[in-house]
Amino acid sequence: MSEELEIRMAQLSDSTDIYQLYQRVADDPQGIIRAKSEITTEYVQNFISNSMNTGLILVLTLNHQIIGEIHAYRYGIEALDHNLGDLTIVIHPRYQGKGYGKKLFEAFLNRIEQLFPDILRVELITREQNLKTRAFYSSLGFKEEGRMSNRIRNAEGHMETPLQMAWMNPDYRGN
Ligand SMILES: CC(C)(COP(=O)(O)OP(=O)(O)OC[C@H]1O[C@@H](n2cnc3c(N)ncnc32)[C@H](O)[C@@H]1OP(=O)(O)O)[C@@H](O)C(=O)NCCC(=O)NCCS
Repeated sequence: MSEELEIRMAQLSDSTDIYQLYQRVADDPQGIIRAKSEITTEYVQNFISNSMNTGLILVLTLNHQIIGEIHAYRYGIEALDHNLGDLTIVIHPRYQGKGYGKKLFEAFLNRIEQLFPDILRVELITREQNLKTRAFYSSLGFKEEGRMSNRIRNAEGHMETPLQMAWMNPDYRGN
């Protein structure tokens, strides 16, 4: 059977599917920083509407089922309006390591270049010890900017140091 892959803007009506995707991804404590109990419908609806209103949110569907999602949005502070932050990308565990994350992230950055000439920076934080995601983000053009010493207390109660990374829009044209 042929596989139908699509990358499209998310809609509010996708919120239940996105909630279920995040619940599944949060089973792995090494992935997203938020704990499974903190993946609430309110959290999901908030980032969907923030991203729809001030940033960008895309979903990747396989045979019309959402298996991946990426979003980032503005901070709501005028002086930071050329930044998109709180970037999160997730791929359903069953489909990780098959190139879908890269496809989705590349589509996201392409749309920033095409649709957001007023965005200079896209920012994210990643776990310092997660060499796989650091290499992944570097391969997409993100640069490591600094360490945030002991910012995370993980599920076992140990401190972790995330890294701040940023991607610069080559098509930035200011306001
Ligand atoms: C991080 C994540 C989004 C990457 O998506 P993915 O579909 O699994 O990644 P891809 O298959 O597109 O691979 C991207 C790169 O990582 C590498 N990679 C993928 N899986 C890997 C693994 N298990 N070990 C080492 N490298 C791996 C690939 O080789 C690829 O590098 P390349 O472009 O040089 O070949 C996905 O694994 C995920 O959702 N993880 C859990 C949630 C999370 O950590 N999100 C990020 C925090 S916001």
